[in-house]
Amino acid sequence: MNFIPVNEPLLNGNEKKYLNECIDTGWISSEGPFIQRFEEEFSQRVNRKHGISVSNGTAALEIAVRAFEFKKGSEIILPTFTIISCAAAIVRNGCVPVLVDSDPMTWNMDLSQIEAKITPKTKAIMIVHIYGLPVDINPILELAQKYNLKIIEDAAQMHGQDYYNDPCGSFGDISIFSFYPNKHVTTGEGGMIVTNDEKLAERCRSLRNLCFKKERRFIHDELGFNYRMTNLQAALGMAQLERLDEFVEKKRWMGKKYTELLSDVKGIQLPLPKTKYADNIYWVYGIVLNEEVPFDAEFMMKKLAQNNIGTRPFFWPMHEQPVFKNMGLFKEERYPVAEKIARRGFYIPSGLALDTNQIEFVAETIKAILKEI
Ligand SMILES: Cc1ncc(COP(=O)(O)O)c(C=O)c1O
Repeated sequence: MNFIPVNEPLLNGNEKKYLNECIDTGWISSEGPFIQRFEEEFSQRVNRKHGISVSNGTAALEIAVRAFEFKKGSEIILPTFTIISCAAAIVRNGCVPVLVDSDPMTWNMDLSQIEAKITPKTKAIMIVHIYGLPVDINPILELAQKYNLKIIEDAAQMHGQDYYNDPCGSFGDISIFSFYPNKHVTTGEGGMIVTNDEKLAERCRSLRNLCFKKERRFIHDELGFNYRMTNLQAALGMAQLERLDEFVEKKRWMGKKYTELLSDVKGIQLPLPKTKYADNIYWVYGIVLNEEVPFDAEFMMKKLAQNNIGTRPFFWPMHEQPVFKNMGLFKEERYPVAEKIARRGFYIPSGLALDTNQIEFVAETIKAILKEI
């Protein structure tokens, strides 16, 4: 079997056609017509009035936090088990990340821990949907209302997923997406901020584009960023967005197939196929090794690599990040679920280009490795 990459995007729709349009017309910067189309169609798809395209999901989070103008030292609650982009956006904006542990079944933030972390300094909760199942959002919205908190929704991995009947990305005061190539819609690198709030949208647009003063370009009242997306990226995005339903179906097929083949295997925890509020979209197919397995994810990943199978480890918790420890953050804090899944979790090939043979080979290889123990 040839090497099976952990991800491979599908670019065989209108991608080339739209990219050629950019080249033929000369529109390659952020001012081309695909930008507006992509922003409008993407935001409509997630039931939002405004879409602001940016250079990546990390930039989207940074602008999202900045847009609220929280006072220095304001606290924002988020899961420890996430990508560093979330906590970095908070720290870079002079706010304080306050962590909660994960739910051992969904790997999303543990809702029962949030309220105890709310203080008079808390200004927002950052919801991060992890790996394919959304966070159970309604209880968090209730807390936000009770304590007057903003919601920043990181739906970077959730294109095409719903929470009950509403799209992920439609719940935050500001929500964000990433379009990195392992996402269901890719632009190579890219991101999108979505909101229903006109003022926040205007602020995000300005922050994305160096905060040029409206009346006179090259005069600035505030330091912004150049986090613009290019027309080339938006052209790719449009071609991808056209196929989102098909991609979601493919991902669900992949997840079901893996689950069928792996459900009898002892020693591993598989992703939950569904909860009361969503069917798993399997952004990635994660596996956690149970405690009785005498090795960790790193060993398992090496074994799979020896069999030409690409994998990635799970996120590493924020409270164990050297960069934050060096800043004096999260001293003595422990979050046992996140610590366990970080060490014992990994994901297997989950890209849109996977075929049945590859899925069967991956499942057989996992079985064979675990049989040896
Ligand atoms: C939950 C989450 N948030 C944010 C990001 C950052 O997105 P990007 O890689 O586009 O900067 C990612 C990337 O995978 C992510 O998974």
